[in-house]
Amino acid sequence: MRFKLPELGSHVTGFAVRFGGKVYAYLNRCAHISLELDWNPGEFFDLSGQYLICATHGAHFQPDTGYCVAGPCHGQMLESVQVKEQEQQIFINLESLTNV
Ligand code: FES
Repeated sequence: MRFKLPELGSHVTGFAVRFGGKVYAYLNRCAHISLELDWNPGEFFDLSGQYLICATHGAHFQPDTGYCVAGPCHGQMLESVQVKEQEQQIFINLESLTNV
């Protein structure tokens, strides 16, 4: 799921994914260049469903940590957003962001 973050700028977006039964959220911005990741709006996983990918460069990120395991940003992290799931709703905590 992709969402807008107007608090951080008019074009800033984030996304949340479910992986292993848990929800994780990140800024929709690569660790090495300020590009959005999704290859179709709201589509972040590779075909295996095991990694998030950068649509521009094919970099692979662990969905549960945001760690880049392959690609030009290898070893860097996506900016995670603290997220809480409660009664089928997802709440994000923007105060958890460090590099905005
Ligand atoms: S923008 Fe960083 S891997 Fe594509």
